Amino acid sequence: MRKIENMKTTVNTKKSNIKNKYNLSADFYNSRYRNIQYEKYARMLNGMKLNGVILDLGSGTGMLSEFLDKEIICVDFSINMLKKSENKYRILGDAEKLPFKNNVFDIVLSFTLIQNLPDFSRRNANIYYGKHFQCFPNISGKAPGFSVKSPESSGKLRSFPEIKVFKEVRRILKSNSLFILTILRKKYDGNVKKELEKDFFILKEVDCGEDIGFICRVKRHK
Ligand SMILES: C[S@@+](CC[C@H](N)C(=O)[O-])C[C@H]1O[C@@H](n2cnc3c(N)ncnc32)[C@H](O)[C@@H]1O
Repeated sequence: MRKIENMKTTVNTKKSNIKNKYNLSADFYNSRYRNIQYEKYARMLNGMKLNGVILDLGSGTGMLSEFLDKEIICVDFSINMLKKSENKYRILGDAEKLPFKNNVFDIVLSFTLIQNLPDFSRRNANIYYGKHFQCFPNISGKAPGFSVKSPESSGKLRSFPEIKVFKEVRRILKSNSLFILTILRKKYDGNVKKELEKDFFILKEVDCGEDIGFICRVKRHK
């Protein structure tokens, strides 16, 4: 059994490991993944008309823009992946801290990004050490997620913190607009859907083969 000390990985370290991984795979990403990603785009979007200001979040090499044959705004935190894109609008940025004002996009598309985010892997890791939180596997074994013990909660179990990227996407979307996302199925955990439903109405769940997809409408801004 791995020692608990080995689980002490900071969020920033996880992010830079993921970034390095994509920086290193940029040269062969398209040839290895084009068919797989194109199939997801086709199943997910299925001829939908996409109009307005569109963001591709975690755009990678820009294959979605190529598939749609449309100029969309691409954000990714891997410089090498972005460099492979021929898109006009490419922004180096973190999905959890987007460099945009509120209410600017009509549609946010995000294919196979979410499972890379530290918030997401914390959910699946079952143990996480943060500055203020100590988390333990849910001892009932019934829930797929886990609970949190914090100094402030004096030992009471609390639910796990939200997934930041959903709040960010909600912030930058105009009212009533769409968030279309897929998540790698093998990393998918039902709690993600619950988190998504806090900020979005799920209009449709789509089987995208390797991924599970959701078409969502943003809940009204308060
Ligand atoms: C599996 S690839 C998918 C790329 C693209 N969406 C596609 O359909 O081919 C995941 C992408 O998410 C990016 N990514 C991962 N974490 C990110 C983050 N925190 N902020 C921005 N981009 C991130 C990676 O650099 C990588 O390009």
